[in-house]
Amino acid sequence: MTNANQAIHQQITDILDQGAEAVKQVVDAYVANRTAERDMNWLCLQMAKEFGAVMIHTDNAREAIRGGADGREMDEYFETVKEEVAHYQAYYNLVNRTIGKDTEIPVPDIYRYLVTKVEDGKLAPDEAMLEMKSRWPEHHGYMACRGDYVKTQHPWVAKVFGATMEGGAGGWHWCMSQVPQDDEFLTQVAKLQKGIAIDELEHGPEELAELCREYSDDSGVDLNELYTQLREHRYQEVRQRNEQFLYPLTEDQLEVIHQQLLNNTLSGFNLYSKAA
Ligand SMILES: [Fe+2]
Ligand SMILES: [Fe+2]
Repeated sequence: MTNANQAIHQQITDILDQGAEAVKQVVDAYVANRTAERDMNWLCLQMAKEFGAVMIHTDNAREAIRGGADGREMDEYFETVKEEVAHYQAYYNLVNRTIGKDTEIPVPDIYRYLVTKVEDGKLAPDEAMLEMKSRWPEHHGYMACRGDYVKTQHPWVAKVFGATMEGGAGGWHWCMSQVPQDDEFLTQVAKLQKGIAIDELEHGPEELAELCREYSDDSGVDLNELYTQLREHRYQEVRQRNEQFLYPLTEDQLEVIHQQLLNNTLSGFNLYSKAA
């Protein structure tokens, strides 16, 4: 990789590391303000999100087969689907251990949290999910992946956002694996999140090095604008996690984190840089 391409990779990795540090502030606020309702809200939504991820990766596999993929090329798709199923099961088991197997799930419509389809070769929200937009606006904002900006850019930009969307959340799983093990619930959370973090930190970000190697100035991408957009997207994850935890942080507190991210004042965790 040339020095210039390496510098781009470093910048994007730094942004992901700072995003993880930003998300840690939401996790800390949740831990300090826990209620049974908050515990179940994030857990049920996360369980549903993993179910959605199973469908996303299944769609990806079908698209790859339609595009001619075969044989050993498909091993990686299989591996990823298997991991997402395991994530779903880990949360599902914790739900059952916490409220009992036959108790109704306390958050309605959770399976409409993440339902996607492939439209013109691109990932798009399904109707079943779109109907819930006003219920989980921050989550929908995160999944939109800065679409208004990305659409106007060279396709390379969409690939970068694709690589940082799912794997970017690996930082959250990591922060959740570090919660103080104060009771049985958090002890189990810490344990299961650790395994998931290791998987998710590789769902996308590992493609970044390759993508940055491909980058050329001919694409006409304004890199500073790209970095700002990636920072805004990390902030959107902070808002999404705050929504998932039923708002432990106020708007004023969120704005402080927003400025930290935009002004590059966080030192960042050594997560993505280590995985890179
Ligand atoms: Fe997952
Ligand atoms: Fe994943």
